[in-house]
Amino acid sequence: MKQSVRIGCIGAGNIFTHAHLPIYVELDQTDLVAIYDIDKQAAEKAKNIYIRMSQEQGKPVDHDIKVCSSAEELLALVDVVDVCTSVRYHAWYSALALQHNVHVMTEKPMARTWLEAQAVVDAHKKSTAIFQLNDDNIFIPRYLKMRNIVESGILGTIQDIRLARGTCSSERAEWFWNPLESGGGSIMDYGSHAIFSSWFILGFDKIPTDVCSMQIQTKEPTRIINSQMQRVEIDDDAHFKIRYIDPQTNDWATVFIEATWAVPDFAADMSDVHGYLEIRGSKGYAINYMDDENNEYIKIGNPFGNRLLPVQSVESEAFSFKAEILHFLSRIKRDTTDRAFFDTDIAAKTISIINCAQLSELKGRKTVTLSDLEVYSQNLTKGSDSPWEKGDMLSVALGSCASNSNTEREESL
Ligand SMILES: NC(=O)c1ccc[n+]([C@@H]2O[C@H](COP(=O)([O-])OP(=O)(O)OC[C@H]3O[C@@H](n4cnc5c(N)ncnc54)[C@H](O)[C@@H]3O)[C@@H](O)[C@H]2O)c1
Repeated sequence: MKQSVRIGCIGAGNIFTHAHLPIYVELDQTDLVAIYDIDKQAAEKAKNIYIRMSQEQGKPVDHDIKVCSSAEELLALVDVVDVCTSVRYHAWYSALALQHNVHVMTEKPMARTWLEAQAVVDAHKKSTAIFQLNDDNIFIPRYLKMRNIVESGILGTIQDIRLARGTCSSERAEWFWNPLESGGGSIMDYGSHAIFSSWFILGFDKIPTDVCSMQIQTKEPTRIINSQMQRVEIDDDAHFKIRYIDPQTNDWATVFIEATWAVPDFAADMSDVHGYLEIRGSKGYAINYMDDENNEYIKIGNPFGNRLLPVQSVESEAFSFKAEILHFLSRIKRDTTDRAFFDTDIAAKTISIINCAQLSELKGRKTVTLSDLEVYSQNLTKGSDSPWEKGDMLSVALGSCASNSNTEREESL
């Protein structure tokens, strides 16, 4: 067996098998050595796919791949754990790995609730291991280029960012539609990506202070999920805004987000992987743009004129999945304490922002601060000491915030 990083997977479903596993086959510095999934068949299937793909690429597997019976068994065998379960268990397994001083990458969103995310932050502080939230989107060339445009100063002071993400589809596992398992619908799925990417572009030094729902609704409740026509109640269309303060100047910027699993309201042709992204500053603007031949550009307008900046277009996210894994492996190799870009606090705040938007919807779309969220959470979870139990209570309350389309919500809290 070559000298390489021993990878363990917890949760061998869609994203692991289709997106991460092929990268571990391709990379020479990684070996998948252990898999744990509550569905043992899923773990066996992933193991067989890994063996077959390795053979096809002329790299026959010469090490054991253990299908484990528990997460603890897996943690004893690996250098890195890749958490790809349903959202409910992301924070649980991340904290467990950190307690065992095993490096951990977890899929987005980091948790269902800010309380569970905080448990990971606390575990990280006591651990020698490295944590990374795998929100691959910031490796997509469009977002990185927009970050470069903002940091170059050519747009002046950023006033607002508009980012629309989504896909009009029901093709996802059943748990995505259950607030206890997912913590929310499209707001958790695409909202988490959109918050993380827009904050990255704006600069992680900016501080989120207020969040307001513009409407979080169930827009298309009739769905075929797992072959069954049914009526869903979770949000499938979330619009909200976030205010970020610049601690140096006290100036502020607003980020407007659309995260949808329904027909998008905004720039339908820019949905899913491409997204719609517009940034306005005191000196100019930048908007992502695709021509009829699917060539991607950023359109920049400022006092020096208008121009189109070509951007490497990535058809699939395979590109960004590989980039996030390589980034993590390089952090481990350098044993870096550098937490920039994937700082645990920033990852956790992303969840606080989602929870604030959900609470804002419940409160009749009133502006909500992070301390309002804390007070609400304390009142709701009185009587429990466990972050996981509190997480269950909060997920059900906030994850069910969606109003029905076209209803204006009364102030209820
Ligand atoms: N970065 C991206 O662009 C991207 C894309 C797709 C999915 N994801 C994220 O990946 C995660 C997984 O999504 P998916 O589509 O692969 O879901 P999935 O349902 O296909 O896979 C989840 C797997 O986890 C297993 N599992 C559930 N609970 C478990 C537990 N307690 N212990 C061990 N295993 C458990 C399930 O049996 C299943 O095999 C989600 O959080 C999703 O948001 C990210």
